[in-house]
Amino acid sequence: MGYQEEYVRAGRSLKRALKRSSLRRPLRAVKRRADELALVFASRQDRRHALSGPRQAWRVKRDYQISFLRDAGLQPQHRLLDLGCGTLRGGIPIINVLDDGHYWGVNAREQALTAARAELVDAGLEHKRPRLIHGSDFDLLHLGVKFDVIWAFSVLPHLDDAVLGGALRCVKEHLANDGRFFATVHLGSSKGGGSWDEFPDLRRPLDFYEKEAARADLEVLDLGALSELKHPPNVVNAFHHMLEMRAA
Ligand SMILES: C[S@@+](CC[C@H](N)C(=O)[O-])C[C@H]1O[C@@H](n2cnc3c(N)ncnc32)[C@H](O)[C@@H]1O
Repeated sequence: MGYQEEYVRAGRSLKRALKRSSLRRPLRAVKRRADELALVFASRQDRRHALSGPRQAWRVKRDYQISFLRDAGLQPQHRLLDLGCGTLRGGIPIINVLDDGHYWGVNAREQALTAARAELVDAGLEHKRPRLIHGSDFDLLHLGVKFDVIWAFSVLPHLDDAVLGGALRCVKEHLANDGRFFATVHLGSSKGGGSWDEFPDLRRPLDFYEKEAARADLEVLDLGALSELKHPPNVVNAFHHMLEMRAA
């Protein structure tokens, strides 16, 4: 066993021990304060993308999204709808690859979209004219455009069941005949979970997603865990699965 693996193992067993101990809550509070303090000294990008997930992981998450989509066959002429685009953590390289006006992003939090617009300026990509739409009710989204790819990275676990139903109906309405919807999910044998900021953070069984997708006339293929799909294994949520959905 290499020394890196030993560190990872030691870290995991320490985490398990802490989970069982009464120190769990106070340690969490200390970690939250430390994270807040670290943000004061963080770069602009670090601060912005902290609205999309752990500050330390944004580069990996950005690089992974475009690399997955490229491998899946994304072409410049494709139109892509990014559900829950957040701060454009993943969106910036996607916008860079696509033809002008071919990227559409939707997000519930205006604060994240403000950060997204700043990212766009810093990346010199305003001329690509991506559409960034503020909204949280997917049933109200009627763009009148069909997309080759619809993308939801680290988003479905944050939608409660009713909102997820709306998201899947929205996918069905906006997916081109041969279009593909890719979404990451936290799979488990039973439903459960916690929260992330003001959103839920939900674990659900695959057959739950299959049933919900069938209601929207979509069929689901589980492509496997991200760590089996070229995502670095030791980065947060590498165990999440990538689902692909198409019109049934
Ligand atoms: C973990 S972040 C991921 C952001 C982006 N997909 C990425 O990977 O960089 C989840 C995003 O989903 C957005 N979100 C949650 N519920 C939503 C809803 N009902 N409609 C639109 N966006 C939503 C949040 O505002 C947040 O920006």
